[in-house]
Amino acid sequence: MKTSAEKLADLERRAELGGGEDRLARHREAGKMTARERVDALFDPGTFEELDKLVTHRCLDFGMQDQLVPGDGVVSGHGKVDGRQVYAFAQDFTVFGGSLSETNAAKICKVMDLAMRMGAPIVGLNDSGGARIQEGVMSLGGYADIFLRNTLASGVVPQISAIMGPCAGGAVYSPAITDFNIMVKGTSYMFVTGPDVIKTVTHEDVTKEDLGGAMTHNQKSGVAHFAVENDRECLALIRELLGFLPANNLDDAPRVATEDPADREDASLDTLVPASPYQPYDMLDLIHTIADDGYFLEVHRHYAANIIVGFARMGGRSVGIVANQPAHLAGTLDIDASVKGARFVRFCDAFNIPLVTIEDVPGFLPGTVQEFGGIIRHGAKLLYAFAEATVPKVTVITRKAYGGAYCVMASKHIRTDFNYAWPMAEIAVMGPEGAVNILYRRELDGSPDAAARRAEKTSEFREAFANPYVAASRGFIDEVIRPRQTRRKIISALEGCSAKRASNPPKKHGNIPL
Ligand code: HXC
Repeated sequence: MKTSAEKLADLERRAELGGGEDRLARHREAGKMTARERVDALFDPGTFEELDKLVTHRCLDFGMQDQLVPGDGVVSGHGKVDGRQVYAFAQDFTVFGGSLSETNAAKICKVMDLAMRMGAPIVGLNDSGGARIQEGVMSLGGYADIFLRNTLASGVVPQISAIMGPCAGGAVYSPAITDFNIMVKGTSYMFVTGPDVIKTVTHEDVTKEDLGGAMTHNQKSGVAHFAVENDRECLALIRELLGFLPANNLDDAPRVATEDPADREDASLDTLVPASPYQPYDMLDLIHTIADDGYFLEVHRHYAANIIVGFARMGGRSVGIVANQPAHLAGTLDIDASVKGARFVRFCDAFNIPLVTIEDVPGFLPGTVQEFGGIIRHGAKLLYAFAEATVPKVTVITRKAYGGAYCVMASKHIRTDFNYAWPMAEIAVMGPEGAVNILYRRELDGSPDAAARRAEKTSEFREAFANPYVAASRGFIDEVIRPRQTRRKIISALEGCSAKRASNPPKKHGNIPL
């Protein structure tokens, strides 16, 4: 007869053994950390408190009554990340393929409920064969319970999903609702229907990796925000990301002391924008130059490279940076860039993270692909997101701000607090060439010296409109600043916004053009 202490120790040992030594060994051989190793790496050493370690499933079919693993395939609890409270669950692939049972769904729901009640972020480490087949609808119900909580937690506490193994079928919709998805290269995949079903239905041949691997979702679909080399990098990234975020929507992100002077000027910025308006430059150079310690955590790096989004600190404050990238598609806004930007803006707004917008945009990308694809409604998402955002907003126009894109990219008219422009900024309805073609078409068509006159008119137009001074004379630009002053001006502006209070009219919710 075991003593009570021995009985507890035995149960705990069985829970910690998950699916057993053999399966754990196979799991490690596949290059993956176990669920418990992942949790240990995520949290500050010794801070993780496990809950529901002794929960078992209740399934009596298919011989399941004889296969009870304490914990039932998911490790859940709370602990500290850099000293701040975080809730998490980690699916254990060695127990029934990490599949979701009624009881392990209840464990996940419990930590989600606690996270929301306590106002702490929730991190999900996904590695699962999906619904536990033996449990049928009980498992499906468990998923729906989780989806509901993901939805209710959205905008209340940050939700981060790591995909560290399979994530297939309806299971993908939990990460899809969360704020950030991180995928591990080579070992993770996500899809609604796998290669076999696709082969049957559409006769397409596609591998798991091509269909739903880390780079597919980082580059093509935009479902994932980060791709990492391995589990350890994934968990380190989650820790880092959490450092930029508040614990909940009523909190501010932590301020991080920096030795980097707020008034640091950088003369290299004065020559960053090339003399020719058609020549690209790398907007990341500017971002790295103005951020505290030159550090920028880029989000969605592999997707829609014509817009850059990510986190930096300025004067110790966490900021969300949204910037056009002239080095890709000339920095135009297309469907993917609009959706990428809009989602990031809405995240920052939900979590009190000030928005710094850096603008060099020649307009929306023209073409039938874009129009048929719905650039009107997708572009409207970005406009809507910036317009509804009530967090501190600061915009710097470095070069082009043309047409509708001028309005969209956090212009003064949609409640941006401080708008700056560099002296070489061009703020107009359209570029000089396009404007001259429309305004002087009749005059120039068939004219013997059309080329020379077009050049003359273009230069006249550029002189008159392609500058920041008309906008500055109207107060749409608060100040034309020297490029080297950009960091100092943004930090002062953020300081000016530090007690900002703004709200939108009361409503159930808006109707963003989805
Ligand atoms: C129960 C499962 C399981 C599942 C895997 N296992 N998936 N048990 N329910 N869904 C078990 C296996 O029986 C096996 O048990 C162990 O986990 C490891 O699985 P393997 O197949 O040996 O591993 P691997 O070769 O790596 O393949 C992993 C896999 C494959 C690709 C995930 O197992 C698989 O295709 N599973 C089914 C996936 C699926 O169709 N799920 C339902 C999706 S629909 P032993 O004892 O041998 O170790 C869905 C709906 C959600 O999830 C709806 C929400 C609305």
